[in-house]
Amino acid sequence: MSFLSATLSRVKPSPTIAISARAREMKAAGHDVIALSAGEPDFDTPDNIKVAAKAAIDAGQTKYTDPDGTPELKSAISAKFQRENELDYSEAQISIGTGGKQILYNGLMATLNPGDEVVIPAPYWVSYPDMVLLAGGTPVIATTTLESGFKLSAEQLEAAITPRTKWIIFNSPGNPSGAGYSWEELKALTDVLMRHPHVWVMTDDMYEHLAYDGFEFCTPAQVEPALYERTLTINGVSKAHAMTGWRIGYAGGPEPLIAAMRKIQSQSTSCPCTISQWAAVEALEGPQDHIIANNAVFKRRRDLVVSRLNAITGITCPTPEGAFYVYPSIAGLIGRTSAGGTKITDDEAFATALLDETGVAVVFGAAFGLSPNFRISYATADAALEAACARIQTFCNNLT
Ligand SMILES: Cc1ncc(COP(=O)(O)O)c(C=O)c1O
Repeated sequence: MSFLSATLSRVKPSPTIAISARAREMKAAGHDVIALSAGEPDFDTPDNIKVAAKAAIDAGQTKYTDPDGTPELKSAISAKFQRENELDYSEAQISIGTGGKQILYNGLMATLNPGDEVVIPAPYWVSYPDMVLLAGGTPVIATTTLESGFKLSAEQLEAAITPRTKWIIFNSPGNPSGAGYSWEELKALTDVLMRHPHVWVMTDDMYEHLAYDGFEFCTPAQVEPALYERTLTINGVSKAHAMTGWRIGYAGGPEPLIAAMRKIQSQSTSCPCTISQWAAVEALEGPQDHIIANNAVFKRRRDLVVSRLNAITGITCPTPEGAFYVYPSIAGLIGRTSAGGTKITDDEAFATALLDETGVAVVFGAAFGLSPNFRISYATADAALEAACARIQTFCNNLT
């Protein structure tokens, strides 16, 4: 009998983390690598947030807190939901965890039983299906298309729902496509959910503030207030405030679900990092100018990458509404052979040959459940993006 748990055999390690690790190894071995694989802003955490964290340390805020967060941060989150999302969550309806990732995990662990299904639109963030499997549920993948802007239609959602469906995981703007749903597009989905009262909504709003060209973010319980009683609204400070390493995410939801999530957290991590919680209070209550400044840079980089990639024969790259990713199709390159002799049979072969032959690290689409595509994270310096696009162009031009 294996020493390791059977649960573990159901999941795979995160492919995005694996590719970033391979790129780092190649760099350490002296290769000229441009990594476009990491899902985090390249900006530093704003100074006022760092100052707040240092002040918290000096004030002795270095002990355990309540399992799902301090009253001060819950109050700041409650005000944020009210101010930005028109959602009324009392402090008892708020859970704070070690990143949005832990909140998603707690939500699934607290609710899934064997046989329970979770609808996940593809392309999806790599962790969703594996988290569902770890929690004992069954992922049901609803695959979108490039032509639909990688957005789920009402018909697709309707077709994916069964009597066993417990959740739909919704993510807009999304990772890896950057697709953002307009109010009307989201309303079409919430109308379907109104016909299926047993289905709950887990909405991952992590990229709320990273939106361009006037895109207006909206979240399911705001678009359809009648869904409030069965929605877990998840957000965090990682992306908007360049705080990935601080590990603070949070959610608002019905009190019994929040209490169940607290129970899990109290037996796993005890509480999120106290110092980071004080930093997050400042992130939510302090000046927000860095979001506007960072978005201007992200938009410029998005436009640069989209135009460079669309100039390459065989690649089609839609312009996404938000986040810091593009998700181009390489349908026009399948079946060709690279200068190094690799047959491009699928997007994994493409990404591997691209890294080996040019040093550009991207993540292949199969990792996100929709092929043949790849994901570029443009949260990196303009010069690196220019150089990477030039290398991708040369690589593609040399395919035979
Ligand atoms: C869609 C999505 N949700 C959640 C997370 C996790 O965020 P956090 O760093 O707060 O755990 C990520 C991080 O890449 C993400 O892309």
